[in-house]
Amino acid sequence: VLRRKDDFVAYSAVCTHLGCLVKWAGPQKEFLCPCHAAVFDAEGRVVSGPAPADLPPYRVKEIGEVVYVAAS
Ligand code: FES
Repeated sequence: VLRRKDDFVAYSAVCTHLGCLVKWAGPQKEFLCPCHAAVFDAEGRVVSGPAPADLPPYRVKEIGEVVYVAAS
């Protein structure tokens, strides 16, 4: 789950290459996969590496001060 300027977005943390968990690299504003170096941008799109597809998005809904996340 990422907090943007005006909202939140959420993506699966499972790399689309072989299933390792990606980590958010704040300074670079990218998701990095530690296994084979796939890189995804802040919208979950593949930037580089062996990942064959973008990170699947999750639906996000804010109600008051609570953020709900559900698989799409
Ligand atoms: Fe993420 Fe291979 S599992 S790059």
